[in-house]
Order: sequence, then structure tokens, then C-alpha cells
Amino acid sequence: MAVTAAVIGASGYAGAELVRLLARHPHVELRAVAGSSRAGEPLAGVFPHLRGVVGLTLEEALSPAVWEGVDFVFLALPSGASAELLPRVLSRALERGTRIIDLSGDLRLPAELYEAWYGRPAVDPAIRREAVYGLAELFPDRIRSARLVSNPGCYPTAILLGLAPLARAGLLASGAVVIDAKSGVSGAGRGVTLSTHFGEVNENFLPYKVGRHQHTPEVEHVLEQLAGRRVTVALTTHLLPVSRGILATLYVRPASGDGAPGGPGGVPEPEDLHRLYREFYAGRPFVRVLDPGVFPAIKQVQGSNYCDIGLHVDGRSGWITVFAAIDNLVKGAAGQAVQNMNLMAGFDETAGLDLVPLYP
Ligand SMILES: NC(=O)c1ccc[n+]([C@@H]2O[C@H](COP(=O)([O-])OP(=O)(O)OC[C@H]3O[C@@H](n4cnc5c(N)ncnc54)[C@H](OP(=O)(O)O)[C@@H]3O)[C@@H](O)[C@H]2O)c1
Repeated sequence: MAVTAAVIGASGYAGAELVRLLARHPHVELRAVAGSSRAGEPLAGVFPHLRGVVGLTLEEALSPAVWEGVDFVFLALPSGASAELLPRVLSRALERGTRIIDLSGDLRLPAELYEAWYGRPAVDPAIRREAVYGLAELFPDRIRSARLVSNPGCYPTAILLGLAPLARAGLLASGAVVIDAKSGVSGAGRGVTLSTHFGEVNENFLPYKVGRHQHTPEVEHVLEQLAGRRVTVALTTHLLPVSRGILATLYVRPASGDGAPGGPGGVPEPEDLHRLYREFYAGRPFVRVLDPGVFPAIKQVQGSNYCDIGLHVDGRSGWITVFAAIDNLVKGAAGQAVQNMNLMAGFDETAGLDLVPLYP
């Protein structure tokens, strides 16, 4: 059985990546794409790599071609734009049986956190209540029956997959989680800004949004659900001079104990930590827990839906170090959205996502 789909925001990076994946998905007919300032242009003119792959022209976001007779609509719009569009389309879409996957940050947080970190009014609470957080490895059952999915942020995807086994095992202590995360420049979207143009990024490496990255409350909010108590993290994001990829290095001091390896409540033995992760992700096709002493690299996940996780137990300092690598546009955005659609539609979770990483 096939489903029909449309992508709004297809003239942006995440939307174009959705088009790339949906165009070759075995159970999807891509019916429509929409843009904003580029509406009216052929998509292959906006993104020449899609020439001969998709012959569609960019519609307006509210065009009937996008919404009528379509099973899944993906919103790949900037945060704020989704919140404006959803009240205008959601109830009619749900009546028609159209399900929506939103890639923005507009549905991921409770209103007070959203307003504090995004600096704009939150979406209507009824819409936010309808939304299910779409981290497929953690909440597959909720996603299967959802009508509106809020796709996670790119950093939170890597960070939460890296920390979830520790959170569930009660090993996260508040105030003892340090997150050092780096992203390639496509994470900022296709729009040109001073901080993302070639001369600023090439051969450079710097922190940004220090102490105020909007993914901080998203990480804490989900960790709280997993750990069953409040977890505060110290998160710093950095801009890498590469197009794609996120590497998050996560430093964790276990919740209790004297820190002695293998001691009660202390740092786990390395083999116990590896077993915890392997068991947690058993049967999850996109998380690759690497062997002891092997660590991930962004190049090894580029173009794929994988999240690679490496683990290190530092018995000397008493810290656990977790490394998580993803492609921000695939597992961090479009791939994860397709994975969520697969769950919602009852397809094999890997359909259309059998992507071998590009190398070198
Ligand atoms: N880039 C990533 O790695 C990544 C990862 C995870 C999540 N996300 C999220 O995905 C969303 C899209 O990100 P992106 O990187 O693809 O951004 P982008 O490259 O800047 O693309 C934004 C898209 O939204 C359209 N748009 C802009 N303002 C609009 C408005 N007011 N109404 C309707 N359409 C509007 C643009 O259309 P025109 O170009 O035609 O004007 C474009 O198609 C964001 O919410 C982002 O946070 C991105």
C-alpha cells in the first residue's frame, strides 16, 4: 500500500532532503512541494541536484494541491512559521485524515519554556497537546498512533540518543551532565547570514549561542521524562567548518556513589556500560553502538539515518564519556521524519532509509 505526501518548505535544506528521501521511498508518492519566496519555481531550478528526480513546481503553502488527497504533510519551516500555519490548516487536515510531521521547534516544548527560549508566543495549547515528540527510538508506540508529530531538533536527537540509556538506568545526576556539541553549517538552513558564509566558517571553529541555545530546554524536558526527575545540563554548541554532521560529546558523572568503577552507584565497568547500551538499542536499526575503544565520526554517518554511539568510562576521573554522531539533515531532520512516517503508516521502519553513509 502506498501513501501520498507533500513537503512544505521544500526550498530549504531540510525540505530538500525530505524530497530526496521521499522521491525514492518504495511506498510514497510525492504529490506536492511548497515554498515561500520561491513559490512558482520548479523545484529542480531551486535545487539542481533534484533535476530528473522530481518534476514538481513549488506551490504556496496553503495551496489545495498540497493539502487535498494527501496522507502526510511534512512542514520543514522555520520555527514561528509552523506555529502560524498550523492553526489555519490543522483541524481541516485531521478531519480529512491527513497526518502532519512538523520539523520546527514550535511543538516541542511546554508554552512557558517555548516563550522563554524562542522569544515568541507559543502555539495554541490544543495544537501543542495533539503533538507527539517524534524521537522514534524512544517513543515508537506514541508515534504510531499520532496525527501530529513534532520531529526533534538535530542536536537533541544526537544528545538524547546518547543519554537515554543512562537516564532510564537512573545514572544521570542533575548538574553533572556536560554537553559539548558541534554541528556542520547546514544546521542553520540555506539562508545566507554573516556567521554562516564561507569566509567566516572555512578553517574556523567557534562556539555560538552560548548559554542560550533553544535546544537546551528540549533536551532537559525529554531527559526529565526518561529519568523521572529533573535533569539540568550544561550545553554548548559549536559551528564546524563542514556542510553536514553533528558530533555530541556527553560527559556524565553517575548519579550517586563514590565514583569508584563498579562500586555501588558509581561509575559502571566499561563492559557493563556497553551491555546497557546494546540492550537498550537492541532491534533499533538506526543506532549503532560501537565496540569498546571505537568512537564515532561524522564522516561515518554522513548521508545516512544512523546514529553512531561510542562509550568511554574514565575510572581515573570518575566520568562517563558518550559520543554520538548523526547527519543533521538525515537522522537529525528528514530521515527521522520519514522514520516517523513509516511508523505512523505501518511500514517497515527502515523503508526508504536504507542509506549507506557516503565515504570519504
Ligand atoms: N537544517 C537542519 O539541519 C535542521 C535539522 C533539524 C530541524 N530543522 C528544522 O527544520 C526547519 C527548516 O530548516 P531548514 O534548515 O531547512 O531551513 P531553510 O533552509 O532556511 O528553509 C526554510 C524553508 O521554509 C520556507 N519559509 C521560510 N519562511 C516561511 C514562512 N513564513 N512561511 C512559509 N514558508 C517559509 C522557505 O521558503 P523559501 O526559501 O521559498 O522562501 C524554505 O523552504 C526549521 O524549523 C529547522 O529548525 C533543521
